[in-house]
Amino acid sequence: QGEAATKTRTIRLLLVGDEYVGKTSLILSLVSEQFPFSVPPRTQPITIPPDVTPERVATILVDTSMREQSENDISSEIVRADVICLVYSVVDDETFNRLSKYWLPLIREKLGDSHKVPVILVGNKSDERFEQGEQDSSLNRAIPIMHKFKEVETSLECSAKSMKNLAELFFYAQKAVLFPHAPLYNSAGQM
Ligand code: GTP
Ligand code: MG
Repeated sequence: QGEAATKTRTIRLLLVGDEYVGKTSLILSLVSEQFPFSVPPRTQPITIPPDVTPERVATILVDTSMREQSENDISSEIVRADVICLVYSVVDDETFNRLSKYWLPLIREKLGDSHKVPVILVGNKSDERFEQGEQDSSLNRAIPIMHKFKEVETSLECSAKSMKNLAELFFYAQKAVLFPHAPLYNSAGQM
C-alpha cells in the first residue's frame, strides 16, 4: 500500500500520552470489545476495515509507548498521523498538566505552529472517578487548552475498562479528519 493510497483511503489514528494512561488498553478494548486485563506496552498497528467504522473509512490505530520508544520514534509517528488522540488519565493530574507542558508543544514542534492535524483530548479511566459531577469540572479544565491550542478539536472522557465513550472517541476522530474545522481555526485574514 503506497503512501498516497494511505492518505486518501485510510485514516491513520495515533495515540500518544504519558505512560500508564491507558493507550494500549483503549485500542484493545475498542478492537476486541472487552477490557484487556493484561496488555503489552504497545500493540502493532491495527487496521479496522471501513464497514465497521463509524464513517466507513478504513482506519489504522497506531499505538506508542515511552516505555519502549524514544521521543524521536514517537515524533516520527506524529508526522505521519491524520489525527492524534492525546490521552491522559482523569485520576492523574500530572498526565493532564503534561498535555500543555509537553505533548502539545512537541506536536507543534514536529508539525509546525499552525498545523492542521486535529488533536482530540482523551481523558481515560473515567470509571475510577467516584463523583459523576467531577466530569464537568474536568472537561472545563480543557477549555483554556483549546483556546491556546486551536488544533485541539474536541475533548472527551472515556474508559477502556467500562467501554464508556469508546465508540464516540472513534467517531470524533474520524469526523475530525473527514470534516476538518481548519478554516474556522485560521484567524489570519479575518477580523
Ligand atoms: P504505556 O504503554 O506505558 O505508555 O501505557 P499505556 O498508556 O499504554 O497504558 P496501559 O494500556 O498499559 O494501561 C496502564 C494501566 O491502566 C493498566 O493497568 C490498565 O489495566 C489500566 N487501565 C487502562 N485503561 C483503564 C481504564 O479505563 N480504567 C481503569 N480503571 N484502568 C485502566
Ligand atoms: Mg501502552
